[in-house]
Amino acid sequence: MTQTLASTLVVENHLPPDFTARTLRQDVVTGLSAPAKWMPPRWFYDDRGSQLFDEITRLPEYYPTRAERSILQARAAEIADVSAATTLVELGAGSAEKTRLLVDALRATDRLRTYVPVDVSDAALRTGAAGLLWEYPGLAVHAVVADFERHLDRLPATGHRMVVLLGGTIGNLAPDARTRFLGDVRGALRPGETLLLGTDLVKSPDVLVPAYDDAAGVTAEFNRNVLRVLNRELDADFEPAEFDHVAIWDAEREWIEMRLRARHAMRVRIPAVDLTVEFARGEVVRTEISAKFRPEGVAAELSAAGFEPTRWWTDDDQRFGLSLATAS
Ligand code: SAH
Ligand code: AVI
Repeated sequence: MTQTLASTLVVENHLPPDFTARTLRQDVVTGLSAPAKWMPPRWFYDDRGSQLFDEITRLPEYYPTRAERSILQARAAEIADVSAATTLVELGAGSAEKTRLLVDALRATDRLRTYVPVDVSDAALRTGAAGLLWEYPGLAVHAVVADFERHLDRLPATGHRMVVLLGGTIGNLAPDARTRFLGDVRGALRPGETLLLGTDLVKSPDVLVPAYDDAAGVTAEFNRNVLRVLNRELDADFEPAEFDHVAIWDAEREWIEMRLRARHAMRVRIPAVDLTVEFARGEVVRTEISAKFRPEGVAAELSAAGFEPTRWWTDDDQRFGLSLATAS
């Protein structure tokens, strides 16, 4: 379905009408019936989850947003120059707050014609897209509601594109899904078009763990939000307050793992999928991984996917990396 909200805002929805119902059901049955329970992180981002994520980005402990913003502030002009993009495609755009730095730089070259934010969250997408439309008269905004793990073959093909995935969101994909995703992005691009990729870097757990377990408890609420989504969408009877938020650093796999840990033994009913899930006291559900990267690993993964790593930047504290890669 395509809907035109104003002369220059088009919202295109690639999620089938029953996407949430069908895909969420499949994920619940697969993830919560597994011996080691898990849920994919995309279900965090309903309206409340998207707001909580925006709150996380402003927390003192959560450095990735500030670090990535500082790189963009320093390098946006160079990115605009090297990419020569006329179309900016942003995957997992969310509120598109940092995107303005790229839009400003691309507009300064007088090349940018179209901004294509892509997100699975319709609410986050509309808020972000509407903000940009308002701030940049004359910019065509073509918003796409889609799952970037499934629908990259449907990206608009107009102009000379730069695809961006900011925030370190690539780290939320498991390694095999990440390889598939980079291959799909490469498959969607023409030679010479570019990918701008934000990756959080490996660092001391003393910095990493508080970023995912903040003193104000916002990340804990974000984590528990997935249970509220299951209660609302599938009539489940989770008691979110009966689950503790856990964030651990897995030094071997170099990722932060977020979990929800049952405070006591419990039985949860999920009528929409006819499932009863038993939790032992202390049993966990893995709700997110957030992989951290090393520069050589990022370059190797980009090359393996058919990109030529073109530029690599970090912030002054070397906490976060931003790469520009060219489809070869
Ligand atoms: N780019 C922003 C937001 C990051 S939060 C930033 O850098 O701050 C991650 C965003 O990705 C959320 O808006 C979420 O809805 C979206 N997202 C997560 N999984 C997705 C998927 N499979 N397909 C499309 N969007 C997804
Ligand atoms: C969106 N993504 C990159 C965030 C991250 O840091 O992995 C999601 C998040 N989870 C907890 N805090 C933030």
